[in-house]
This record gives sequence, structure tokens and C-alpha cells, in this order.
Amino acid sequence: MTGKNVVVVGGSHGIGFEIVRRELNQGASVTVVSRTVGRLLELAAAESGSLAHIVADVCSDRLSEEQLPERIDAFVYCPGSISLGSLRACNPETMRRDFELNVVSATTCFQVALKSMSRSEKASAVFFSSVAAQLGMSMHTSVAASKGAIEALVRTWASELAPKIRVNGIAPALVDTPLAQRLLSSESKRAVMATIYPLARIGLPDDCAALAEFLLSDKSGWITGQIYGVDGGLSSIFKAP
Ligand SMILES: NC(=O)c1ccc[n+]([C@@H]2O[C@H](COP(=O)([O-])OP(=O)(O)OC[C@H]3O[C@@H](n4cnc5c(N)ncnc54)[C@H](OP(=O)(O)O)[C@@H]3O)[C@@H](O)[C@H]2O)c1
Repeated sequence: MTGKNVVVVGGSHGIGFEIVRRELNQGASVTVVSRTVGRLLELAAAESGSLAHIVADVCSDRLSEEQLPERIDAFVYCPGSISLGSLRACNPETMRRDFELNVVSATTCFQVALKSMSRSEKASAVFFSSVAAQLGMSMHTSVAASKGAIEALVRTWASELAPKIRVNGIAPALVDTPLAQRLLSSESKRAVMATIYPLARIGLPDDCAALAEFLLSDKSGWITGQIYGVDGGLSSIFKAP
């Protein structure tokens, strides 16, 4: 779509950054919301669309409608957490912090964007879950709870906002981004992690960004309320070693 306005909350690095890159390449006007400028300076001169940055911590700063474009055609919420720990060790603070970032702030940011999205003929929103919402994985109490909530909200919002606004979710497994660096901090860790996946590698940010670009485009115009695994086959395939 020419003149497409895209808002990417959490587009300064990781998966969100690759979504920003793809949308700019399509000529879109992209507004990024994040605490830091991150890698955005790499993009400013190189791509064909236009880029604006709003500095905000979505957990403590309330966005206003006036800060966002008057019409929003595509909205993505990327901030998320990987708080791993056993059930015994999981404390209420961790649960509350994860819910604040993954669920409460996703809701408040989306609310602020809604009026501008309703001005678009074909608006689409994408939220991020995790493979651990549907697949039981030990040490994932807080992640499973908060991402399970987002999956439920994707379906709820898709129903409430149809037919005007489409809402879908992406559930990645391990992707090579700053968020996952603790799990990928050495070559041996990376090699072990890769063996978990039927497709024999960990994910790249662009694996998810490619799907997000499709879900934010008119090509997915008859798709809403869905959650897509981008997980190297982990959630649905057993491959004997
Ligand atoms: N990477 C994985 O292995 C993995 C696996 C499963 C699910 N996911 C999910 O996929 C999504 C994207 O993950 P990612 O790996 O790309 O994450 P990431 O590398 O941590 O990037 C997150 C983005 O959100 C921004 N952000 C984080 N906290 C924020 C806050 N409080 N206020 C404003 N902006 C904030 C960050 O920018 P600033 O730091 O500049 O604010 C950054 O641009 C997340 O929801 C994550 O839970 C990722």
C-alpha cells in the first residue's frame, strides 16, 4: 500500500527492527516506539520510506493519540521477556513484571492506536507470543502465563474489531536477538540449542519479520484471530535423534 503508516512498538532492535526494515523497504512511513534508538540509525539513510522515533518506556510512559500518525494501517507490539525459572523459584514480582510488559502495556499501547487504526480501510495488528504458550516447557511459568494471555487477547480483539481491524499473533521459539543472548552466549550453547529444532537451527529475526510483513499486508486480508508458530517445527513435529 502506498502511503502506508506503520507503528512498531519495540522496533529498535531484534525482530521489531527487521519488521521496520522490511516496511521501510516497501516505502511505508514507520513510527517506532522504544526506550532507545538502538539500531535505527543504521536505517535512516538507506531505505525508501520515512522513519520517526518516539522515546518511551511503555511500562511507565503513557503514549498519547497525538504522538501517533492520524491514520495507522499497521500496528505491531514487540516488547517481551524471557524470564526462565522453576515453579518454586518464580516470585510474584517476576509474574507482575512480565504481565506488565507482555500484556498490560500491549493492551494500553493498542488502545491508544485504535482511533487512528479505525481511520484505515485495511488495518492489521500483530502481537508476539512464544512457543511456550502452547507447548509445555519446564522453567517457563511466567513466560507461558503472560504469552498465553496475549494469545487469548489476540482472539478476543480479532473478534471485537472485525471486520475493520485484523489481529494476529506470532509465536516464535528461540530467535537470535538481544533478548535471547543469555541463552546463546557461546558457540557450544548455540550448537546445543540448534539440535532441539527439527529444522536444525535457531531462528533469525527475519524469519519472524517475514511473516509479520505478510500479516500486516493486504495479502493476508482474509486472516484474523490466528497464532502462527515460527519455531523450526518444534511445536508440532517430533524428529527422532
Ligand atoms: N527472541 C526470542 O528467542 C523470542 C522467543 C519467543 C518469543 N519472543 C517474543 O518476540 C518478541 C520480540 O522479541 P525480540 O527477541 O525481538 O526482543 P528484543 O530483542 O528484546 O527487542 C524488543 C524490542 O522492544 C523494545 N522494548 C523492550 N522493552 C520496552 C519497554 N519497556 N518500552 C519500550 N520498548 C521496549 C526494545 O527496545 P529498547 O530496548 O530500545 O526499548 C526492542 O526494540 C517479544 O515479545 C518476545 O517475547 C522472542
